[in-house]
Amino acid sequence: MSNKTIAVVTGGAGDIGRAIASALAETHDIIFVVDIDRSKLLKTPGEISERGSHGVNKFMTCYCDITKEEDVANMAKSVSSHGRVRTLINNAGATNVGSLGEMTPTAWKGDISLNLNASFFCFHAFEESLKETRGSVVNIASGNGLGVFGNPAYSAAKAGLIHFTRSIAVEYGKFGVRANCVAPGTVRTGAWKEKAAANPGVFDEAMKWYPLQRGIEPRDIARAVAFLVNDELAGAITGICLPVDCGLIAGQPALARTFGQSDNY
Ligand SMILES: NC(=O)c1ccc[n+]([C@@H]2O[C@H](COP(=O)([O-])OP(=O)(O)OC[C@H]3O[C@@H](n4cnc5c(N)ncnc54)[C@H](O)[C@@H]3O)[C@@H](O)[C@H]2O)c1
Repeated sequence: MSNKTIAVVTGGAGDIGRAIASALAETHDIIFVVDIDRSKLLKTPGEISERGSHGVNKFMTCYCDITKEEDVANMAKSVSSHGRVRTLINNAGATNVGSLGEMTPTAWKGDISLNLNASFFCFHAFEESLKETRGSVVNIASGNGLGVFGNPAYSAAKAGLIHFTRSIAVEYGKFGVRANCVAPGTVRTGAWKEKAAANPGVFDEAMKWYPLQRGIEPRDIARAVAFLVNDELAGAITGICLPVDCGLIAGQPALARTFGQSDNY
């Protein structure tokens, strides 16, 4: 078996996924970019290596619909032929329906399937590798998993993902496996395409609620992930959810101004 350090990034052809793959290239020999979008997958290794300092050969791609157990098992088989996986980043995610009033059972199941169940399938597929390498899992949750910001099925799934992360941390800690979440605030990515088309002011409107008064960049998320998987830096950290959200979950200045009756906010 090869001793190469291997990372798997689901949704790796997306905007945050590419940034994570690029950041992990600093500490891993091979990064498997797993995605359902074949055309984005084709371009991803070239795009990441053009922007970063790593050669295109460091990035391997794998087509997979992670909501399908059989696809995940096949993906894991193909990845494992290169060696044991040390780092699993469950990053693929998406949402469609904004409120309970518009929700259908099919839409609900779809969001839970992609944003929660699929992360378990991937963990299950790499569980033995992670134990053997005393590896690390980072699940990309969302501020939506910590408070109500719309998109209820997605949010319930992300809240479930945070709890699933704790379950891994507590049960697999004895094998040296660490599991943590990163919960992004608003990151301007392809995921926002439809909302931005419907309301071009959506980002500016959102920024007034953020203490740091700016949006989050994919690289902000990637740096947090790189920190959490690094045993030298974060070897004692497991079971946490780290918001990377420019302060959104801490509180909103506009509300503090109302309740504190002070213009200092
Ligand atoms: N962008 C934000 O504001 C934001 C905020 C909080 C959390 N997040 C989370 O960050 C993660 C990445 O989101 P992003 O903004 O980069 O979105 P993105 O749309 O750019 O990337 C998501 C990627 O997941 C892939 N994907 C979707 N379904 C899949 C499936 N069934 N199997 C395999 N791959 C699949 C897509 O093809 C896409 O490449 C998601 O989990 C998302 O929920 C994003």
